[in-house]
Amino acid sequence: MSILVTGASGFLGSHLVEHLCISGAKHLRCFVRPSSDLAKLNELRDKYPSTHLQYVVGNLLSLTDAYRAMEGIEVVYHLAAEMKGTAPTVFANTVVASRNILEAIVMQRVRRVVLVSSICVYGVAHLPRATVVTEDTELETQPERRDAYAFAKIRQEKLFQQYRRNHSFDLVILRPGVIYGEGRAELPSRAGLRLGPLILQIAAQNRLPLTYVSNCVTAVALAGLSLPEGSYNVVDENSPKAAEYVRLYRSLVEKITSVRLSRSSVLLLAHIFSRCVALSKGQIPAVLTPYQIKSTWGGHRFSNERLRAAGWNPRASTAEGILRAFQASNCPTQPRKTRQAVMVPPPSPLASSEN
Ligand SMILES: NC(=O)c1ccc[n+]([C@@H]2O[C@H](COP(=O)([O-])OP(=O)(O)OC[C@H]3O[C@@H](n4cnc5c(N)ncnc54)[C@H](OP(=O)(O)O)[C@@H]3O)[C@@H](O)[C@H]2O)c1
Repeated sequence: MSILVTGASGFLGSHLVEHLCISGAKHLRCFVRPSSDLAKLNELRDKYPSTHLQYVVGNLLSLTDAYRAMEGIEVVYHLAAEMKGTAPTVFANTVVASRNILEAIVMQRVRRVVLVSSICVYGVAHLPRATVVTEDTELETQPERRDAYAFAKIRQEKLFQQYRRNHSFDLVILRPGVIYGEGRAELPSRAGLRLGPLILQIAAQNRLPLTYVSNCVTAVALAGLSLPEGSYNVVDENSPKAAEYVRLYRSLVEKITSVRLSRSSVLLLAHIFSRCVALSKGQIPAVLTPYQIKSTWGGHRFSNERLRAAGWNPRASTAEGILRAFQASNCPTQPRKTRQAVMVPPPSPLASSEN
């Protein structure tokens, strides 16, 4: 089977490539940019000589490069996207790049396509706290009210669904929560807003919809092989509350000062700020609106039941994942606590996570 991985040089992509090598893939094509850091992929090429790792160097903003990468491919894992940066860059590398990939998929008659989307595509701002978000929950209908990343991921997913309706490839969409692991143990925005050595914890009692990278790649790999067409949330079980996650981070990774803010006080500030934005007639940028706060810190839960029922077995518990990620962190203050220091949150009866 010939496989293409886009975003192969990224955090999730390099873990996926390693997982596919271990699973016995004979030939893997990795789409990388001229500026991509290939250190991890080169390491994998040396470590798994029985897999032929081929690099296609280009940019998915070029349709020609997308066509070139897709020649002879049967299964595509599309991970490439831009998670940070200016809105136009995020849009281009997420949505324009996806349009080119989709054109190439159709042209080259690719059989199976796996899109790594995100749980941020759901429209949850109006849903009450503790609502369980399943794959049947409606996607966001007002993407323009969300941040640049969510806007782009919503547009990306809708584009894939539109092409699927008009063409004949199989499409599996995965919607991971916050992906963390060795090499990425930062505090996610769902845990609070980081301001230098300070973290403003918003809604510290919300459970974080986390997925440990090894668990997440197992789901992604499965999607390329045997998952029935459709969409699947990827969240681990027994996720910690934001407050607990920050406490462990402070204890194992880095001393930072945390300040707790209730969601209602942040909402009030956001309403006042929105008023100032309106009065400024666009002079002040509309960052962190009440709608965005309700979407990100609304205390919703994300079910993984569909993925579980389809045979997904997370490899590591959340407690193990957090411990490994935090201990491997490159932050200057190295781990000081032992394994016993990690508190295992109680099992959730819903087998789902909250954010
Ligand atoms: N991380 C999370 O918490 C999370 C949660 C939910 C969903 N996701 C989704 O998971 C996927 C992978 O995320 P990640 O954390 O691995 O992100 P990442 O580390 O930032 O990797 C993104 C990858 O996309 C590539 N890319 C960006 N623009 C490109 C372009 N124009 N042409 C070709 N390649 C391009 C990057 O190439 P360079 O190496 O050259 O920069 C990089 O390899 C993304 O689709 C993301 O939206 C992530």
